[in-house]
Amino acid sequence: MIELLNRIHICVGDITQLTVDAIVNAANESLLGGGGVDGAIHRAAGPRLLEHNRTLGGCPTGLAKITPGFDLVAIGIKHIIHTVGPVWHGDASASLSNTHEDVLLASCYHQTLTLALEHEIKTLAFPAISTGVYGFPKERAAKIAFGHVYHFLTQHPFPQQVTFCCFSQEDAAVYHQVIESRNEWMTSRKRVQPF
Ligand code: APR
Repeated sequence: MIELLNRIHICVGDITQLTVDAIVNAANESLLGGGGVDGAIHRAAGPRLLEHNRTLGGCPTGLAKITPGFDLVAIGIKHIIHTVGPVWHGDASASLSNTHEDVLLASCYHQTLTLALEHEIKTLAFPAISTGVYGFPKERAAKIAFGHVYHFLTQHPFPQQVTFCCFSQEDAAVYHQVIESRNEWMTSRKRVQPF
């Protein structure tokens, strides 16, 4: 357990500034950029990213596609994994893993981690997918994120290290609290089987 938790980090900052092999983009289905972290990543990766993404034919919600890091390669970020989180319309009182949005968000993490495994990516950073413009409740999203990353890392050697890159101290505190209280909720939640 301890060894596994050493492979999961939390940081506060701009994901485009991190020293990792790959960063995850919270994209929209067009993959043609937007605001939030999507905008930041497109700005940092440069116009070649948009040019490349025009050839991808978009990405359905819950799935993920990998691209080069383009201008980000200069600071060591070789890949960007674009995943499209769900827009939250759900009932926050529903038990964890029991809304359509929960399943789609879980799939984003699973699909992204699977691509990282296939590409033997050592270090990977996630933003808090769907918790900005898409309005997913932060604590609920953090439980899904941590639960799926933790489970995946128990099964696979790659990624070797996952960082949850939060854009504020408040968001990081949510992840810290979720991880500290994991025994309480991880045993209770239904295993969400991503797509
Ligand atoms: N680095 C790390 N995290 C960031 C950054 C950044 N540079 N910029 C924003 N964030 C955080 C937000 O604070 C939030 O916690 O990323 C999280 C996800 O928020 P959004 O970027 O709004 O993404 P999401 O809620 O998934 O909505 C996706 O927004 O930008 C558009 O094109 C995107 O349509 C898509 C939608």
